[in-house]
Amino acid sequence: MTQKLWLVAAAAVATLSLGSCQKVGSPNEVPAFAAINGDYLKTGGDGSNWAMTGFSYDEQRHSPLTQINAKNVKDLGIAWFTDLPDPRGQEATPVVVDGKMFISTAWSKVFAYDAKTGKPLWSFDPAVDKARGVKACCDVVNRGVAFWKGSVFVGTIDGRLISLDASTGKQLWSAQTLDLESNGTITGVPRVVNDKVVIGFGGAEFGARGYVTAYDAATGKQAWRFYTTPNPMGEPDGAASDEILKTAATSTWSATPKKGDWRESGGGGTVWDAIVYDAELDQLYIGVGNGNPWNHGIRSNGEGDNLFLSSIVALKPDTGEYIWHYQETPAETWDYTATQPIILATEERGGKDVKVLYHAPKNGFFFTIDRVSGKMLSAEPFIDGITWASGYDEKTGRPIEKPEARYNQTGKLYMANPSALGAHNWHPMSYNPATGLVYIPALYIGGAYMPPVAPNEQERKKLGFNTGGAFATADLPDDINFVKAVKAATKGKLVAFDPKTGKAKWTVDHPASWNGGTMTTAGNLVFQGTAMGEFRAYAADTGKQLYNLNVQSGVLSGASTYTVDGEQYVAFLTSKGGAFPLVAGYAGNTSAAVPNIPRLIVLKLGGKATLPALPEAQPYVWEPPTQTGTPANIAAGLSNFQRYCLVCHGPGAVGNGVLPDLRKSASIADADTWKSVVIDGVLKGNGMVSFASVLSPQEAEQMRAYVISRAHYAKANDKTLASK
Ligand code: HEC
Repeated sequence: MTQKLWLVAAAAVATLSLGSCQKVGSPNEVPAFAAINGDYLKTGGDGSNWAMTGFSYDEQRHSPLTQINAKNVKDLGIAWFTDLPDPRGQEATPVVVDGKMFISTAWSKVFAYDAKTGKPLWSFDPAVDKARGVKACCDVVNRGVAFWKGSVFVGTIDGRLISLDASTGKQLWSAQTLDLESNGTITGVPRVVNDKVVIGFGGAEFGARGYVTAYDAATGKQAWRFYTTPNPMGEPDGAASDEILKTAATSTWSATPKKGDWRESGGGGTVWDAIVYDAELDQLYIGVGNGNPWNHGIRSNGEGDNLFLSSIVALKPDTGEYIWHYQETPAETWDYTATQPIILATEERGGKDVKVLYHAPKNGFFFTIDRVSGKMLSAEPFIDGITWASGYDEKTGRPIEKPEARYNQTGKLYMANPSALGAHNWHPMSYNPATGLVYIPALYIGGAYMPPVAPNEQERKKLGFNTGGAFATADLPDDINFVKAVKAATKGKLVAFDPKTGKAKWTVDHPASWNGGTMTTAGNLVFQGTAMGEFRAYAADTGKQLYNLNVQSGVLSGASTYTVDGEQYVAFLTSKGGAFPLVAGYAGNTSAAVPNIPRLIVLKLGGKATLPALPEAQPYVWEPPTQTGTPANIAAGLSNFQRYCLVCHGPGAVGNGVLPDLRKSASIADADTWKSVVIDGVLKGNGMVSFASVLSPQEAEQMRAYVISRAHYAKANDKTLASK
């Protein structure tokens, strides 16, 4: 994004916050708001509200509404839309209660609208310290708010859990769930169970010890905490997890301390997305993330399963006590989190109704797990060509691994599918009880793993990813055929998976990766937005495409649907951003030219609103500065760039339209300007912190030489290689 656009965006923020001070909320609204409690969320009601991001406690994202259906969905048009302030990833599913809509946006802001007209009701900006953005592995996103008895809850990038009055947006309480010195950030949705708000956080890439915490919904007082990895000092935490960590988890981690191992990093295991309440069994399921460092050889000396990494853990919601767990990826070493969305259902198996949970985590296998016992009932691939395991042993519940996948044991480069971005990431999946199908927004993004080759990669650093592997030491190959092959292999698929057969009933190919979440309705519909800037509907039973609307920008979020005055609406957010778009400028750039427009769009049958025309593309005058660095400088700059900058500015400094494309940035022309950003941190207030704690000014200058080399390369090859 050019400097100019950033200025426009900043002005938009200022305007929006000025115009949003009205407070609406008559006493009449209180009863309807108050009705959203545990009983209501058990079913989610008649579909007029979409009262939690997953619709109801079972998180099927299935609406009973039928007014919009397979016959008339072609008549959907835009009812209203509104632009959002920050041009970063927008991942929230809109929550709607009693005709009022609540969304969270990038930088953990919350906005409330009249769900029929789009009139803004209130907004809340937690004024997050933007420097915290450097600790958000995958963009400064937020996946939505929770609604409970007239309060709205949001988690923030700087680790606060905040309660707001749903009528006014006024803050009721705020609890700091994370130590500010920690690497944690909250991007996930809080869940409210039995008057307790439960929240986790992310940050395992950098080094963190995962936990979930429950707070009293009325006061914000902490009720319990459950840690997912053992205490590094071997001491009890005084937490709900003490007993089970002592009896079951500690022995699954290496006993002899080693430099850079789990004792230094906390082991990872953050709970950054799925936290699902089972109202039938009064159990809470948390999806636990990857290890830190990723490399199991460094993390745990290659020893042990490392509980509760990559596991689903069932807890008692009132106390946080452990009930059962199932570990999907033992001794994980590929960033295979089990944090992905969880769906609860009842399935007929062997003539009996079985209470199951469905899970399609990063590792590419679709799990059906018995909710009562925690036993894995089946694990079948939901993507093709999985390289790390051939399947699961149903008796032991363990994967049948392919030895070449353990790069830390072979010492060799391992080309993987799925990669660290997963066969499925956070994008919501949905389940339709009428078809019995689970609609998974699946990903094909290959990747490489390599044990560290340079000390730079192995050592823990205060800033940046600490994966314990060569993240991408090599420069990008200048081979156009390789680039084309990577591009062709990087795509998306909508998979309508039948848990009963363990196979896809139907699939839809998407040319680009990182498409939106899915939502399904009793109108025999599945909705999904795409990275290519479309919003679509398919027949839920056959997969036939019934609707396709050009929405100008990518769609990441899951949609929701609701009624006001008897009329049904469908709502979703547009934008580019998140983990893949930030790093995808080079390899997965099929969607690179799609604009990044942060916007909330609401559809209804016969909607007549039209989106403003896109600004005309400006001719770009691009003359890379003269190279003054030596080849040795450039090589050194490359190594540090991959380690510290790649995750936000893209491999090879190829931008993807979310953050500045450094090859085209004016800052590379002048050593002082570059230093002022990278070392002195002048753009800290916008989320670009100083890297002085890990880089010397000379190293920063070497990186400038590297980026200049990329700029010259891109200019020479623009037609074929550069993303923009
Ligand atoms: C956590 C994400 C993140 C990481 C990691 C990161 N940056 Fe940035 N960077 C940003 C953001 C956000 C901006 C835009 C700031 C603004 O809008 O003013 C930015 C802007 C910049 C700019 C100014 C570009 C322009 O034209 O305005 C430079 C130069 C830069 N980054 C260099 C680097 C270097 C070098 C590294 C690695 C040492 C790095 N960045 C790592 C997020 C990041």
